[in-house]
Amino acid sequence: MKFFLDTANIDEIREANATGLLDGVTTNPSLIKKSGRDFFEVIAEIADEVKGPVSAETTAPDHETMLKEGLKCAAIADNIAVKVPLTMEGLKTCKALRAKDIMVNVTLCFSANQALLAAKAGATFISPFVGRHDDVGFNGMELIEDIRIIYDNYGFDTEILVASVRHPTHVLESARIGADVATMPWDAMQKLFKHPLTDSGLAGFDKDWAATGFSIL
Ligand code: E4P
Repeated sequence: MKFFLDTANIDEIREANATGLLDGVTTNPSLIKKSGRDFFEVIAEIADEVKGPVSAETTAPDHETMLKEGLKCAAIADNIAVKVPLTMEGLKTCKALRAKDIMVNVTLCFSANQALLAAKAGATFISPFVGRHDDVGFNGMELIEDIRIIYDNYGFDTEILVASVRHPTHVLESARIGADVATMPWDAMQKLFKHPLTDSGLAGFDKDWAATGFSIL
């Protein structure tokens, strides 16, 4: 499973990239606002830092303007995935961008039928928002299961990019279901490394090693 970072903070992206485990980045207008930086400048910097897909989100509601925005975003770098919303206009734009071989991430997906439409429109990625789904009393992971079944039934190659990931259980369940990608904030990714038994085990080994007086180097 691929790991994307869901942020426009270049310091976090550099830290995550240094682990060698980062496969891409997703951004959205709220994350751009949080970064406090110019949209084109920050997207270009991220796309230069990370070799995998970097999502840059369009903001126009209508197909024609959205397509212009998407083409402008795609021109920033070869690894840009243009993000469009899961609306009729967004899927028209998806189809048009895919015809030009531009990667498209269809975002704000909250139902399996929406995911089916995105796959039919040729989306490179579909982004179901599991955390926000949980927030309103649904089970976000059931949505991922349904999408996996539907995509496998018809052999769609649209990648399931689990978004709005809040904690390690979302990542674990995504991997069990066979989602292709999980995008998460840097603090959620760091939690994946942690286990209290790793910490206590390490402390025990450190103590015993110090008592031997040996040194490997
Ligand atoms: C996905 O691409 C979105 O940027 C993101 O995962 C939304 O997450 P949130 O619900 O934590 O804002």
